[in-house]
Amino acid sequence: MNRKDTLYLTADLDGIHEAAKLLRAGELVAFPTETVYGLGGDARNDDAVAQIYAAKGRPSFNPLIAHVASPEAARRHVHWNDAAERLAQAFWPGPLTLVMPLKPDHGISSLVTAGLDTLAVRMPAHPAAQQLLRSFDGPVAAPSANPSGRISPTTAQHVREGLNGRIAAILDDGICNVGLESTILGLAGDPTLLRPGGLAREEIEAALNQELHVHQQGEALSAPGQLLSHYAPDSAVRLNVSTPQGDEILLGFGDMDCDLNLSVAGDVNEAAAHLFSALHLLDKTGRPIAVAPIPMHGLGAAINDRLSRAAAPRDQ
Ligand code: TXA
Ligand code: MG
Repeated sequence: MNRKDTLYLTADLDGIHEAAKLLRAGELVAFPTETVYGLGGDARNDDAVAQIYAAKGRPSFNPLIAHVASPEAARRHVHWNDAAERLAQAFWPGPLTLVMPLKPDHGISSLVTAGLDTLAVRMPAHPAAQQLLRSFDGPVAAPSANPSGRISPTTAQHVREGLNGRIAAILDDGICNVGLESTILGLAGDPTLLRPGGLAREEIEAALNQELHVHQQGEALSAPGQLLSHYAPDSAVRLNVSTPQGDEILLGFGDMDCDLNLSVAGDVNEAAAHLFSALHLLDKTGRPIAVAPIPMHGLGAAINDRLSRAAAPRDQ
């Protein structure tokens, strides 16, 4: 693809307006959200969305999340329901993506949905993301701003390392404080957890007052981007390790001896916020990575999901 001079924009008024202008022109802009940096393009513009796939080197069967400024904006594109209303009231803006049936005149590029009859919608909480969405005034398709199959970016520097020269601009506003992608919930039928993420399943179940159906690996169509080998560092990754072997570098959790600690206090939220930065950092050492056990409660489920993908046998 054509080499671009990637602009670096700070997230002040001028930077936000410049970023919105680029989106309107069909260009790609990486922007911060509370989960990870997203690679944004106009969700109604086929050319812009095609560029997202090209810049990431992403398999084209993988649908994207449409980011919106408000629940009203989401309702322009999808059939809303009571569960969505309740969840939006409780958790939007925030790290929760809802997959819902498309309306007939939805206006969204079929490259965003990859031809499905549902659309993933999310209202991000990060102030810069909200300002950008309001200024752009339309749906922004945005996968995580990393080359396909690589670790997701939680800083503008991570984005630069992966996508410099391939996109029009990076809007820099520091570190993403949740640090894990959004939780994806299917609401086309019974509420179904399609991807664990930055909002704990327990919180969603409490808000809906019901247990979620959990999508099983191999079950037909869930979040189709959930390839087993994903979020992969270059180095080998071994999980649930208490004693590292050979040259392994140990990523710890809780009060223990290790090379780098996700959370000395043993707090899963803090560990989630540090996970991808830690993997980026350890990967640069070139040593095999060993990871201490992480509990499964709260965001621990999503951390273990991402780690098991990082450790899975590589398929490419
Ligand atoms: O936190 C996040 O969700 C970040 C930030 C940038 O918002 N975005 C993100 O996007 O993680 P991405 O493209 O890396 O992951 C989107 C996931 C994929 O696994 C995709 O298969 C799933 O959403 N998805 C999108 N549309 C879907 C649909 N209609 N049905 C089921 N899954 C869908
Ligand atoms: Mg991703």
